[in-house]
Amino acid sequence: MTDLRVDLAGVALKNPIVVPSGTFGFGREYGQFFDLSELGAICVKGLTPLPREGNPAPRIAETPMGILNSVGLQNPGVDAFIAHELPELRKHDVKIIANISGNTPEEYGGMCEKLSAAGVDMIEVNISCPNVKAGGLAYGTRPEMAAEVTEIAKKSSTVPVMVKLSPNVTDITEIAKAVEGAGADAISLINTIRGMRIDVNTRRPILKMNTGGLSGPAVLPVAVRMVWEVANAVKVPILGMGGVSKGADAAEFMLAGAAAVAVGTASFADAYAPVRVRDELAAYAEKQGLARISELTGAVKPW
Ligand SMILES: Cc1cc2nc3c(=O)[nH]c(=O)nc-3n(C[C@H](O)[C@H](O)[C@H](O)COP(=O)(O)O)c2cc1C
Repeated sequence: MTDLRVDLAGVALKNPIVVPSGTFGFGREYGQFFDLSELGAICVKGLTPLPREGNPAPRIAETPMGILNSVGLQNPGVDAFIAHELPELRKHDVKIIANISGNTPEEYGGMCEKLSAAGVDMIEVNISCPNVKAGGLAYGTRPEMAAEVTEIAKKSSTVPVMVKLSPNVTDITEIAKAVEGAGADAISLINTIRGMRIDVNTRRPILKMNTGGLSGPAVLPVAVRMVWEVANAVKVPILGMGGVSKGADAAEFMLAGAAAVAVGTASFADAYAPVRVRDELAAYAEKQGLARISELTGAVKPW
């Protein structure tokens, strides 16, 4: 049997399969389908200092191989998460990663202090949300600003800090190196790729916000390429994601350099997707004769 345990910046995951922020809520709904303890970790929906209703509907558009969303960080706020959601999540034997977005570096710092004290296992700093005006993507596309947010998050946290990068840049390795230099313990990528769809009859964009973020199988090759580039540019561990829907997809991300892999949009069509991907990855690893799944990380043989 292949040992499925992996280490993500000192956070011990029982297997490399994670659910990413925003596609799994706080786990309440999916917990009706499978035991959340089956997962390596849960990244919770993006938290902000105050509650947010998110963007107006329509905020989901279908595309041939994925979805375009403009949800815009709908969440109950960090205090309500700590009071009501974290205790429920803590009933399961699974690592909890709190995903945060702020309008200012100070807002990121304040949330890191609260969440560290509340006892999450890791904090994921989202500097890559394409669906909010302030913060988010503004930080993720400029190396100096990405570094500034990372630095304050690190100073304000007593748990490992992972920074989530945006694919909406020309050279993702510049941002990766900036956040590593500022002390990030790990890097996650990719967030969604900006996109747009138009209803040809009404001539209106399908999304009320006009544009949104693309996720699902369509983004997989872009995400694998970016994980590979980042893995070659930094030393910190990587949580890879973008379009994973089967075990072989997860193996691709690990070969490209990811220590762990998140399964997001696939859960919308198949609630069991994360557990199925874990089982398929384990079967692949057995067939490959691997003693440890971590042997896959970075093991691609480039031409
Ligand atoms: C509906 C929806 C909401 C999302 N919300 C967040 C969020 O709050 N914070 C965040 O960092 N990423 C968010 N994401 C991005 C995902 O975490 C992930 O990076 C992306 O969807 C690529 O993975 P996938 O193709 O497996 O879904 C969201 C994605 C979707 C589809």
